Amino acid sequence: MYGARSMSLCTKLVRVNELGWKQQASPTVHTSSLSSAAFTHRRCSVSSVMSTNGSVPSLPPQISRRLERFKTTIFTEMSILAVKHQAINLGQGFPNFDGPDFIKEAAIEAIKQGNNQYARGFGIPQLNAAIAERFYKDTGLLVDPEREVTVTSGCTEAIAASMIGLVNPGDEVILFAPFYDSYLATLSMVDATIKTVTLRPPDFAVPEKELREAFSSKTRAIMVNTPHNPTGKVFSLQELQLIASLCKQHDSLAFTDEVYHRLTFGAEHISLASLDGMYERTVTLNSLGKTFSLTGWKIGWAVAPPNLTWGVRQAHAFLTFATATPFQWAAVSALKAPDSFYKDLIADYSSKKDILVEGLKEVGFKVFEPKGTYFVMADHTPFGFASDVEFCKFLIEEVGVAAIPPSVFYTDPDDGKHLVRFAFCKDEDTLRQAVDRMKVKLKGKVVARTH
Ligand SMILES: Cc1ncc(COP(=O)(O)O)c(C=O)c1O
Repeated sequence: MYGARSMSLCTKLVRVNELGWKQQASPTVHTSSLSSAAFTHRRCSVSSVMSTNGSVPSLPPQISRRLERFKTTIFTEMSILAVKHQAINLGQGFPNFDGPDFIKEAAIEAIKQGNNQYARGFGIPQLNAAIAERFYKDTGLLVDPEREVTVTSGCTEAIAASMIGLVNPGDEVILFAPFYDSYLATLSMVDATIKTVTLRPPDFAVPEKELREAFSSKTRAIMVNTPHNPTGKVFSLQELQLIASLCKQHDSLAFTDEVYHRLTFGAEHISLASLDGMYERTVTLNSLGKTFSLTGWKIGWAVAPPNLTWGVRQAHAFLTFATATPFQWAAVSALKAPDSFYKDLIADYSSKKDILVEGLKEVGFKVFEPKGTYFVMADHTPFGFASDVEFCKFLIEEVGVAAIPPSVFYTDPDDGKHLVRFAFCKDEDTLRQAVDRMKVKLKGKVVARTH
């Protein structure tokens, strides 16, 4: 059954074309059948080229109206430019070092043991149990692993499954801008109406009045991300209480993306679900990638009460059905890591953060020091550039360092055009080299211009 379901689109298209050829049976058609198969094959390659490196295909690109405004992601664009100029990549948020051996060994062992076929759709029982146990330790909430935990292909799929499974076309969903880019794209796929509330520097605090105004009887859900990418903000208890009270007042759901929950610097991470009366209306989303430096494994999960889990699982069943089996087994080992693992992680990331934050300050940036995540936002306007995209291109081409222009994370790009986001999930030498390059090319180039 599942084998049939996984037949590729390319194969299906070729078969349709072959059918057409048989209907027209003529000696010359054989060639046209071949060329139509080749054409179909080329179309498949074209679409894969588009999605992987963003190059423009020779045929006109085709995309549904839902996604046409997203085009190539800025991550792809900047990464291509970074490779071309051999820039040190502080743009995309993945470590340039490997995850722990004990987890990698567990994956290898799982493969050797033959755990290589489809897993149970909502997760292997051992992983559901490990997630529930971890969730209890972190939040004090006791959940049923069989009815309230869904294993997904990364947090990205957990986000998509929650939105597809729980939001109806036309429902209003509130996002805090700047936002992680998949929220907007996924909400567009479900035809939701998006309302944004902008978090502004220096502290990116939640603007209470604007948030109250954004809520209405049409608000189906609010998307919260704490610790927050790209600002490095960690939502305070007061801010979460405000969100909770508005959710309860308007009978809205909360989706809370907590992939950076282990990366905090002197701030306490609080799960929205742990606030009074919130568990029953919250889907908590998380994954293995950031905490364990294994972003390529794409093991994520959603924790929610059974009535909400039902919607999440329905969507998940038709999105990916199940997630890579051996990596689920390895995730069980990861989630059983001792407390010392998390302590070391914070110590390591604190010193990486300090290298970058202090370095950026010395170069002349106005830096908004993060309380969480592995990102730091800075104001680039001291260097006189009109926009973040212009600044980031200069940074790659002339300085040899890649960063992300954050205007793409806002519905109004002007809100972010004075900012730049750097990632510090890199080894210390790399961070120091990046700072040195910026010192050489940027330090002392501060122009008399304020934002
Ligand atoms: C806020 C946020 N959520 C989700 C993800 C994606 O998580 P995963 O790799 O588990 O899909 C990222 C990755 O950068 C992120 O920054």
